[in-house]
Amino acid sequence: MNADKDSLRIIITGGSSGIGEAVAFEMAKSGHRFYLTGRNEERLQKIVTELQSLGCDAYFGVGDVSDEKVAEQMFAEVKQKLGGVDVLLANAGVGHFGNLEDLSLDQYDAQFNTNVRGVFLWLKMVLPLMKGQNSGQVIVTSSNLGLKTSARCSLYAATKHAVQAMVWCLRDELKGTGVKAATINPGSVDTPWFDGKDVDRSKMLSSVDIASAVRLIIDQNESSDIDHILLTPGKN
Ligand SMILES: NC(=O)c1ccc[n+]([C@@H]2O[C@H](COP(=O)([O-])OP(=O)(O)OC[C@H]3O[C@@H](n4cnc5c(N)ncnc54)[C@H](OP(=O)(O)O)[C@@H]3O)[C@@H](O)[C@H]2O)c1
Repeated sequence: MNADKDSLRIIITGGSSGIGEAVAFEMAKSGHRFYLTGRNEERLQKIVTELQSLGCDAYFGVGDVSDEKVAEQMFAEVKQKLGGVDVLLANAGVGHFGNLEDLSLDQYDAQFNTNVRGVFLWLKMVLPLMKGQNSGQVIVTSSNLGLKTSARCSLYAATKHAVQAMVWCLRDELKGTGVKAATINPGSVDTPWFDGKDVDRSKMLSSVDIASAVRLIIDQNESSDIDHILLTPGKN
């Protein structure tokens, strides 16, 4: 990235929890400036206050990631407060699991709107700006289920395969522009995603593991262009 590496302007959708929150605090170790999005205003306010107390310039926007008008208002605020964007982590996501015939149309809409439409909207907004400045990094939180399939994951895996294809097509479009695109592809991560669910979280990846992988993409040299990072749990 040609941008000032000590003061990157970083947007994180789904910055109110889990992986998005962990990435913000990981990157805050090196300073940087942040705009976090989500629907939980209380959580966003708390995280942004903590980032500010660490000396970072940080803001948040509240709303549904799939709402075009909300996204446009947020992006206008990003440009006004941060003066542009160097990194987008398109991370907001939701998952509903079960046999296909048991999944509802509402669950279909929620997953495709959040996981695919929300990613498309934010990519569509930031890319012209990044292309114009000839630098930038977009990272989409896909999943191991963006690269493989499994029983009881049909719609969720379909959304993650969709964004995986979106990013791989985008990488071809971005050749020669100075803008880079990548995905992170974690297996199960111990985040609030699993709150209230009867699952063993002891051997899962941690959100810090994912944040370290995101940092690797953001901090990579100009001579490198990471395609995706697949993370599997280290504890067996
Ligand atoms: N945890 C895992 O095992 C795992 C594994 C692979 C990939 N992932 C992916 O990682 C990403 C983050 O998940 P996580 O594990 O960090 O879960 P999480 O703690 O539940 O965080 C999900 C984030 O997405 C935001 N979000 C969800 N729906 C939204 C909507 N309609 N509009 C705006 N924001 C919305 C949430 O914000 P609000 O609640 O404030 O709206 C929250 O910040 C997701 O894309 C998920 O698919 C997770």
